[in-house]
Amino acid sequence: MKNKTVLISGALTGIERAAAVNFAQQGDQVVLSGRRDKEGEKLVEELRALGAEAEFVRTDVRAEEDFRNLVDQTVKHFGRSDIAVNNAGTEGRRGLVSQQGDLLLSR
Ligand SMILES: NC(=O)c1ccc[n+]([C@@H]2O[C@H](COP(=O)([O-])OP(=O)(O)OC[C@H]3O[C@@H](n4cnc5c(N)ncnc54)[C@H](OP(=O)(O)O)[C@@H]3O)[C@@H](O)[C@H]2O)c1
Repeated sequence: MKNKTVLISGALTGIERAAAVNFAQQGDQVVLSGRRDKEGEKLVEELRALGAEAEFVRTDVRAEEDFRNLVDQTVKHFGRSDIAVNNAGTEGRRGLVSQQGDLLLSR
């Protein structure tokens, strides 16, 4: 697949950052999202230097309105969204899935 519009959540570090660079190198249009503006704009410049079209949209995936805005901005910039890489997240603590809320609150 080439020349796709790719939306990536939590795109500023780790696996998602590597995916963003890879998509850009393939010639895809990349919409990066994350919670840190400065790092987001820096990565946009890095992807543009590779010849890709890239945009950053500040997004906290816990906020539904943020995520709606991310999709809206993606369609506004590129007319569509072909691929979504939904990888934003953090490691939980070991325990039952049903107890994860309590485990997070006890951090
Ligand atoms: N690496 C592994 O071996 C492994 C194994 C199993 C599962 N995973 C999962 O795979 C995903 C990526 O792993 P990784 O190693 O690339 O992790 P990572 O480098 O910690 O990346 C996680 C990204 O998600 C972002 N993020 C966290 N909460 C967010 C929120 N509420 N809104 C927006 N962005 C948010 C973080 O942004 P901030 O910098 O702003 O916090 C960070 O950029 C994670 O969900 C992780 O739990 C990873």
